[in-house]
Amino acid sequence: SSNAMWGGRFAEGPDAIMEAINASIGFDKRMARQDITGSRAHAAMLAAQGIISDTDAEAIREGLLTVLSEIETGTFEFSTKLEDIHMNVEARLTALIGAPAGRLHTARSRNDQVALDFRMWVRDQADAAIDALSALCKALVAQAEAGAEWVMPGFTHLQTAQPVTWGHHMLAYVEMFSRDLTRFADARERMNECPLGAAALAGTSFPIDREMTANELGFDRPAANSLDAVSDRDFALEFLSCASITAMHLSRLSEELVIWSSAQFRFVQLSDKWTTGSSIMPQKKNPDAAELMRAKIGRIFGAQVALTMVMKGLPLTYSKDMQEDKEQVFDAADNLMLSLAAMTGMVSDMQANVPSLEAAASSGFSTATDLADWLVRALDMPFREAHHVTGTLVKMAEDKGCDLPDLTLEDMQAVHGAITTDVFTVLGVHNSVASRTAYGGTAPVNVRAQVKRWQGIYA
Ligand code: ARG
Repeated sequence: SSNAMWGGRFAEGPDAIMEAINASIGFDKRMARQDITGSRAHAAMLAAQGIISDTDAEAIREGLLTVLSEIETGTFEFSTKLEDIHMNVEARLTALIGAPAGRLHTARSRNDQVALDFRMWVRDQADAAIDALSALCKALVAQAEAGAEWVMPGFTHLQTAQPVTWGHHMLAYVEMFSRDLTRFADARERMNECPLGAAALAGTSFPIDREMTANELGFDRPAANSLDAVSDRDFALEFLSCASITAMHLSRLSEELVIWSSAQFRFVQLSDKWTTGSSIMPQKKNPDAAELMRAKIGRIFGAQVALTMVMKGLPLTYSKDMQEDKEQVFDAADNLMLSLAAMTGMVSDMQANVPSLEAAASSGFSTATDLADWLVRALDMPFREAHHVTGTLVKMAEDKGCDLPDLTLEDMQAVHGAITTDVFTVLGVHNSVASRTAYGGTAPVNVRAQVKRWQGIYA
């Protein structure tokens, strides 16, 4: 038998395989709430404009609330024959209230309907991502406050570079995740135009009030071009792009946590809540959550690539290709939210190993730059020459199997006669970090000022 919603011109129903490839209900049921919210606003507007009667609008409203509660309590029976969430809801509404249900789709198409539902779904996720990112930043700021003066090695090329403070390192991520947050906020603002009322593609001849529905559904304005409104998905691509960059940052922090929690580094102790054991090696405490987050960028960025490929080359306006937009976004959003929550938990619960951070900071000739800077300041040496003298001293220390502060004054003077005992003041890691007070530097006093600033933002 032919389709009850659109089967007028069909003598035969679809092949079972056709039904299977065509149906989206398996995944777009996740937009049920948005679909019903959109339909309620549409029905109220149709009545306000005298396009349908108040009695019909009331029946539709009541009916949709029943459908929503059936979906939320799990008693709703989804049907693949009805293709998607839009027709599943409408069919159930018809079963509940009869004839008035048939008037709901006046001045509307599934094209503007799905564009609306998906946009609202993505908008909710952008809001959720913003909340989750602020929670993560808050956790990082708390770590920064606790360790504003703990010293640790800063790395370039994963080779010891200069001592930095733990707080400064934590706040570097606060900067990154805060930019991620504002990216979601920017994207949200751009996506906040309402496609409802674009109808199939050309708009409608019914005297609808698009300002009313846009307003009711929390949009800033109705989308100005009906063709664009039903056929673009750049709001979803932008969401995925924000998600990808966030996931990339999560991946970098995860990698650091994996390294830091190793027996060789011992910079941090991850809590039992965020680690797992090995089935054979009893000593193991594996950073699985961090490793999984390190990997999630693969599927999240993959979703961005996949949706870009779906959209490329599509002529205006709607093509069924666009039904392939949702699963990618759903999967990316789920994994992003899971990762943000896991990272927030992990960061909150991790314990820095302050003595081992400090020991590592003091090794690897980490204050060589401070020594070179001292030569410039105290002996008025050109920096290039100071760099060379310091390099010679590093080599000497390396040969002796000691670190820079362990060299004697005589050792130093053998390399350059004018060096005085004052040089030892800059070789300690605490002095090193304390001296970096220029704006943006690692000094504890800077970290404390930045912590204050962030605490005002992530209160
Ligand atoms: N399930 C469809 C989708 O997700 C809804 C829109 C259908 N529109 C159409 N013209 N067939 O894209």
